[in-house]
Amino acid sequence: MKNEMRARVKEHYGKIAARVSKKAKSSCCAGGCGCSSGEITDTASFYKGIDLKDLPVEAVNASLGCDNPLVYAQLQAGETVLDLGSGGGIDVLIASKYVGQTGKIYGLDMTDEMLRLANENKAKMGVQNVEFLKGYIEKIPLPDESIDAIISNCVINLSEDKEKVIQEMYRVLKPGGRIAIADIVMLKEIPESLKRNTDLWSSCISGSMSVDEYKTNLRKTGFKQVSINPSHIYTKKVIQQEVLNQEQMKQIQATDLEAVDGAFAGAQIKAWK
Ligand SMILES: C[S@@+](CC[C@H](N)C(=O)[O-])C[C@H]1O[C@@H](n2cnc3c(N)ncnc32)[C@H](O)[C@@H]1O
Repeated sequence: MKNEMRARVKEHYGKIAARVSKKAKSSCCAGGCGCSSGEITDTASFYKGIDLKDLPVEAVNASLGCDNPLVYAQLQAGETVLDLGSGGGIDVLIASKYVGQTGKIYGLDMTDEMLRLANENKAKMGVQNVEFLKGYIEKIPLPDESIDAIISNCVINLSEDKEKVIQEMYRVLKPGGRIAIADIVMLKEIPESLKRNTDLWSSCISGSMSVDEYKTNLRKTGFKQVSINPSHIYTKKVIQQEVLNQEQMKQIQATDLEAVDGAFAGAQIKAWK
Protein backbone atom coordinates (compact mmCIF):
# COMPACT_ATOMS: atom_id res chain seq x y z
CA MET A 1 0.00 0.00 0.00
CA LYS A 2 2.92 2.36 0.71
CA ASN A 3 3.71 4.87 -2.09
CA GLU A 4 0.52 4.18 -4.06
CA MET A 5 -0.28 7.89 -3.88
CA ARG A 6 3.22 9.14 -4.59
CA ALA A 7 2.94 8.94 -8.38
CA ARG A 8 -0.40 10.77 -8.28
CA VAL A 9 1.03 13.47 -6.03
CA LYS A 10 4.08 13.89 -8.28
CA GLU A 11 1.91 14.16 -11.38
CA HIS A 12 -0.40 16.65 -9.66
CA TYR A 13 2.40 19.02 -8.58
CA GLY A 14 4.29 18.54 -11.85
CA LYS A 15 1.26 19.91 -13.70
CA ILE A 16 0.92 22.88 -11.35
CA ALA A 17 4.63 23.75 -11.74
CA ALA A 18 4.37 23.51 -15.53
CA ARG A 19 1.35 25.82 -15.48
CA VAL A 20 3.14 28.42 -13.32
CA SER A 21 6.23 28.27 -15.53
CA LYS A 22 4.11 28.74 -18.63
CA LYS A 23 2.12 31.66 -17.43
CA ALA A 24 2.80 33.76 -14.35
CA LYS A 25 -0.67 34.35 -13.02
CA SER A 26 -1.35 37.09 -10.49
CA SER A 27 -4.08 35.55 -8.35
CA CYS A 28 -7.15 33.44 -8.75
CA CYS A 29 -8.75 32.74 -5.41
CA ALA A 30 -9.35 34.51 -2.14
CA GLY A 31 -6.69 34.22 0.55
CA GLY A 32 -6.37 31.15 2.69
CA CYS A 33 -6.58 28.48 0.02
CA GLY A 34 -3.58 26.31 0.70
CA CYS A 35 -2.33 23.33 -1.24
CA SER A 36 -5.09 23.64 -3.79
CA SER A 37 -5.35 21.31 -6.73
CA GLY A 38 -7.35 23.10 -9.32
CA GLU A 39 -5.82 26.51 -9.70
CA ILE A 40 -2.70 28.39 -8.92
CA THR A 41 -3.57 29.91 -5.59
CA ASP A 42 -3.12 33.13 -3.71
CA THR A 43 -1.55 31.57 -0.63
CA ALA A 44 0.94 34.43 -0.82
CA SER A 45 -1.61 36.20 1.40
CA PHE A 46 -0.04 34.27 4.32
CA TYR A 47 3.13 36.32 3.88
CA LYS A 48 3.79 39.89 4.89
CA GLY A 49 4.60 42.06 1.90
CA ILE A 50 8.11 42.58 3.17
CA ASP A 51 8.85 38.82 3.05
CA LEU A 52 7.89 38.73 -0.63
CA LYS A 53 10.07 41.68 -1.60
CA ASP A 54 12.81 40.59 -4.07
CA LEU A 55 11.07 37.27 -4.86
CA PRO A 56 10.37 36.36 -8.52
CA VAL A 57 6.64 36.47 -9.31
CA GLU A 58 6.74 32.79 -10.36
CA ALA A 59 7.94 31.81 -6.85
CA VAL A 60 5.07 33.74 -5.28
CA ASN A 61 2.49 32.39 -7.72
CA ALA A 62 3.63 28.81 -7.16
CA SER A 63 2.95 29.16 -3.43
CA LEU A 64 0.84 26.18 -2.33
CA GLY A 65 1.29 26.26 1.41
CA CYS A 66 -1.23 26.43 4.23
CA ASP A 67 0.51 29.08 6.38
CA ASN A 68 3.82 30.92 6.67
CA PRO A 69 6.15 28.72 8.78
CA LEU A 70 8.84 31.42 8.72
CA VAL A 71 6.78 33.43 11.21
CA TYR A 72 7.43 30.84 13.93
CA ALA A 73 10.71 29.29 12.67
CA GLN A 74 12.63 32.32 14.02
CA LEU A 75 15.57 31.68 11.73
CA GLN A 76 18.89 33.27 12.66
CA ALA A 77 21.82 34.44 10.56
CA GLY A 78 24.30 31.62 10.00
CA GLU A 79 21.85 28.75 10.47
CA THR A 80 21.54 25.73 8.18
CA VAL A 81 17.90 25.15 7.29
CA LEU A 82 15.99 22.48 5.36
CA ASP A 83 12.59 22.96 3.68
CA LEU A 84 10.75 19.67 3.11
CA GLY A 85 8.72 19.74 -0.12
CA SER A 86 10.03 23.10 -1.26
CA GLY A 87 7.85 23.39 -4.39
CA GLY A 88 8.55 26.55 -6.40
CA GLY A 89 10.85 27.74 -3.62
CA ILE A 90 8.90 30.52 -1.90
CA ASP A 91 9.88 29.62 1.68
CA VAL A 92 13.48 28.73 0.75
CA LEU A 93 14.00 32.05 -1.01
CA ILE A 94 12.51 34.04 1.88
CA ALA A 95 14.56 32.02 4.38
CA SER A 96 17.73 32.77 2.41
CA LYS A 97 17.33 36.39 3.53
CA TYR A 98 17.04 35.41 7.22
CA VAL A 99 20.07 33.06 7.33
CA GLY A 100 22.25 35.41 5.26
CA GLN A 101 25.54 34.68 3.54
CA THR A 102 26.91 32.76 6.54
CA GLY A 103 23.90 30.44 6.50
CA LYS A 104 22.57 27.87 4.06
CA ILE A 105 19.14 26.67 3.07
CA TYR A 106 18.29 23.42 1.32
CA GLY A 107 14.98 22.83 -0.44
CA LEU A 108 14.05 19.16 -0.94
CA ASP A 109 11.44 18.06 -3.47
CA MET A 110 10.69 14.94 -5.51
CA THR A 111 9.03 16.60 -8.53
CA ASP A 112 11.31 17.51 -11.46
CA GLU A 113 9.05 20.31 -12.72
CA MET A 114 8.98 21.94 -9.26
CA LEU A 115 12.77 21.64 -8.94
CA ARG A 116 13.20 23.23 -12.37
CA LEU A 117 10.90 26.11 -11.41
CA ALA A 118 12.64 26.54 -8.04
CA ASN A 119 16.09 26.66 -9.67
CA GLU A 120 14.86 29.23 -12.21
CA ASN A 121 13.50 31.31 -9.33
CA LYS A 122 16.80 31.00 -7.46
CA ALA A 123 18.68 32.24 -10.55
CA LYS A 124 16.26 35.17 -11.01
CA MET A 125 16.75 36.20 -7.38
CA GLY A 126 20.53 35.70 -7.62
CA VAL A 127 20.95 34.04 -4.21
CA GLN A 128 24.06 31.99 -3.41
CA ASN A 129 23.12 30.37 -0.09
CA VAL A 130 20.35 28.13 -1.53
CA GLU A 131 20.51 24.57 -2.86
CA PHE A 132 17.57 22.57 -4.18
CA LEU A 133 17.90 18.80 -3.77
CA LYS A 134 15.96 16.08 -5.53
CA GLY A 135 14.70 13.39 -3.20
CA TYR A 136 12.02 12.12 -0.89
CA ILE A 137 11.14 13.49 2.50
CA GLU A 138 11.01 9.84 3.65
CA LYS A 139 14.74 9.47 2.83
CA ILE A 140 16.37 12.87 3.27
CA PRO A 141 19.66 13.03 1.30
CA LEU A 142 21.58 14.83 4.05
CA PRO A 143 23.92 13.63 6.85
CA ASP A 144 22.91 13.04 10.47
CA GLU A 145 22.86 16.10 12.76
CA SER A 146 23.57 18.60 10.00
CA ILE A 147 20.52 20.93 10.21
CA ASP A 148 19.57 23.66 12.73
CA ALA A 149 15.93 24.09 11.69
CA ILE A 150 13.46 22.27 9.46
CA ILE A 151 10.58 24.11 7.87
CA SER A 152 7.84 22.64 5.67
CA ASN A 153 4.61 23.99 4.25
CA CYS A 154 1.70 21.66 3.54
CA VAL A 155 3.72 18.59 2.54
CA ILE A 156 3.93 15.97 5.31
CA ASN A 157 0.21 15.15 4.94
CA LEU A 158 1.01 14.00 1.38
CA SER A 159 3.36 11.24 2.54
CA GLU A 160 2.19 7.67 2.96
CA ASP A 161 4.92 7.03 5.54
CA LYS A 162 4.68 9.92 7.96
CA GLU A 163 6.48 8.06 10.77
CA LYS A 164 9.51 7.70 8.49
CA VAL A 165 9.39 11.42 7.62
CA ILE A 166 9.40 12.29 11.32
CA GLN A 167 12.30 9.86 12.00
CA GLU A 168 14.24 11.40 9.13
CA MET A 169 13.64 14.92 10.44
CA TYR A 170 14.95 13.83 13.83
CA ARG A 171 18.00 12.17 12.29
CA VAL A 172 19.18 15.20 10.28
CA LEU A 173 18.55 17.77 13.04
CA LYS A 174 21.44 18.79 15.27
CA PRO A 175 20.86 18.26 19.00
CA GLY A 176 18.71 21.20 20.12
CA GLY A 177 17.47 21.70 16.55
CA ARG A 178 13.83 22.51 15.84
CA ILE A 179 10.98 22.01 13.42
CA ALA A 180 8.55 24.78 12.42
CA ILE A 181 6.00 23.24 10.12
CA ALA A 182 2.71 24.26 8.54
CA ASP A 183 0.57 21.23 7.79
CA ILE A 184 -3.02 20.07 7.59
CA VAL A 185 -4.42 18.12 10.55
CA MET A 186 -7.60 16.07 10.85
CA LEU A 187 -10.06 17.34 13.47
CA LYS A 188 -12.72 14.62 13.15
CA GLU A 189 -12.91 11.18 11.55
CA ILE A 190 -14.07 10.89 7.94
CA PRO A 191 -15.26 7.72 6.14
CA GLU A 192 -12.48 5.27 5.20
CA SER A 193 -13.40 5.54 1.51
CA LEU A 194 -12.69 9.28 1.54
CA LYS A 195 -9.32 8.83 3.23
CA ARG A 196 -7.94 7.15 0.09
CA ASN A 197 -9.67 9.53 -2.36
CA THR A 198 -6.79 10.56 -4.64
CA ASP A 199 -8.12 14.07 -5.38
CA LEU A 200 -8.58 14.83 -1.68
CA TRP A 201 -5.19 13.26 -0.87
CA SER A 202 -3.18 15.16 -3.47
CA SER A 203 -4.96 18.38 -2.49
CA CYS A 204 -3.47 17.95 1.03
CA ILE A 205 -6.72 16.98 2.73
CA SER A 206 -7.42 13.32 3.33
CA GLY A 207 -3.89 12.09 4.08
CA SER A 208 -3.69 14.24 7.20
CA MET A 209 -2.97 12.94 10.70
CA SER A 210 -5.11 13.86 13.68
CA VAL A 211 -3.55 16.23 16.21
CA ASP A 212 -3.11 13.34 18.69
CA GLU A 213 -1.51 11.07 16.10
CA TYR A 214 0.89 13.84 15.04
CA LYS A 215 1.88 14.57 18.64
CA THR A 216 2.32 10.87 19.45
CA ASN A 217 4.52 10.28 16.40
CA LEU A 218 6.68 13.31 17.17
CA ARG A 219 7.07 12.40 20.86
CA LYS A 220 7.80 8.71 20.30
CA THR A 221 10.60 9.68 17.88
CA GLY A 222 12.14 11.83 20.61
CA PHE A 223 10.86 15.34 19.88
CA LYS A 224 10.22 17.53 22.93
CA GLN A 225 8.08 20.62 23.62
CA VAL A 226 5.67 19.54 20.90
CA SER A 227 2.92 22.04 20.10
CA ILE A 228 0.24 21.84 17.40
CA ASN A 229 -2.06 24.76 16.89
CA PRO A 230 -4.87 24.30 14.31
CA SER A 231 -5.91 27.66 12.88
CA HIS A 232 -7.50 27.81 9.41
CA ILE A 233 -10.50 25.43 9.39
CA TYR A 234 -11.46 23.86 6.05
CA THR A 235 -15.23 24.19 5.80
CA LYS A 236 -17.08 22.55 2.92
CA LYS A 237 -17.24 26.00 1.31
CA VAL A 238 -13.46 26.31 1.38
CA ILE A 239 -13.06 22.79 -0.02
CA GLN A 240 -15.67 23.49 -2.69
CA GLN A 241 -14.38 26.89 -3.74
CA GLU A 242 -10.68 26.79 -3.06
CA VAL A 243 -9.37 23.23 -2.79
CA LEU A 244 -11.02 21.08 -5.43
CA ASN A 245 -11.54 22.16 -9.03
CA GLN A 246 -14.85 21.81 -10.90
CA GLU A 247 -13.96 18.43 -12.40
CA GLN A 248 -12.97 17.04 -9.01
CA MET A 249 -16.11 18.46 -7.41
CA LYS A 250 -18.22 16.44 -9.85
CA GLN A 251 -16.72 13.24 -8.38
CA ILE A 252 -17.61 14.17 -4.79
CA GLN A 253 -21.04 13.19 -3.42
CA ALA A 254 -23.02 15.72 -1.37
CA THR A 255 -22.82 13.38 1.65
CA ASP A 256 -19.03 13.23 1.28
CA LEU A 257 -18.86 17.00 1.30
CA GLU A 258 -20.85 17.02 4.56
CA ALA A 259 -18.43 14.45 6.01
CA VAL A 260 -15.38 16.62 5.29
CA ASP A 261 -17.02 19.89 6.40
CA GLY A 262 -14.82 21.23 9.23
CA ALA A 263 -12.85 17.98 9.45
CA PHE A 264 -9.47 19.52 8.55
CA ALA A 265 -7.45 22.58 9.47
CA GLY A 266 -4.16 24.22 8.65
CA ALA A 267 -1.95 24.00 11.75
CA GLN A 268 1.29 25.40 13.12
CA ILE A 269 3.53 22.61 14.40
CA LYS A 270 6.61 23.18 16.54
CA ALA A 271 8.97 20.80 18.35
CA TRP A 272 12.59 20.50 19.46
CA LYS A 273 15.18 17.69 19.32
C1 LIG B 1 1.50 21.48 -1.56
S1 LIG B 1 3.02 21.65 -2.36
C2 LIG B 1 3.84 22.78 -1.25
C3 LIG B 1 5.03 23.45 -1.87
C4 LIG B 1 5.71 24.50 -1.00
N1 LIG B 1 6.05 23.99 0.29
C5 LIG B 1 4.85 25.74 -0.87
O1 LIG B 1 4.54 26.15 0.25
O2 LIG B 1 4.49 26.32 -1.90
C6 LIG B 1 3.77 20.09 -1.99
C7 LIG B 1 5.20 19.91 -2.54
O3 LIG B 1 5.76 18.77 -1.89
C8 LIG B 1 6.37 17.92 -2.84
N2 LIG B 1 6.26 16.55 -2.27
C9 LIG B 1 5.13 15.88 -1.98
N3 LIG B 1 5.41 14.68 -1.45
C10 LIG B 1 6.77 14.59 -1.41
C11 LIG B 1 7.67 13.58 -0.96
N4 LIG B 1 7.24 12.43 -0.45
N5 LIG B 1 9.01 13.83 -1.06
C12 LIG B 1 9.46 14.99 -1.60
N6 LIG B 1 8.65 15.97 -2.05
C13 LIG B 1 7.32 15.79 -1.94
C14 LIG B 1 5.57 18.14 -4.12
O4 LIG B 1 6.35 17.82 -5.25
C15 LIG B 1 5.25 19.62 -4.04
O5 LIG B 1 6.24 20.41 -4.63
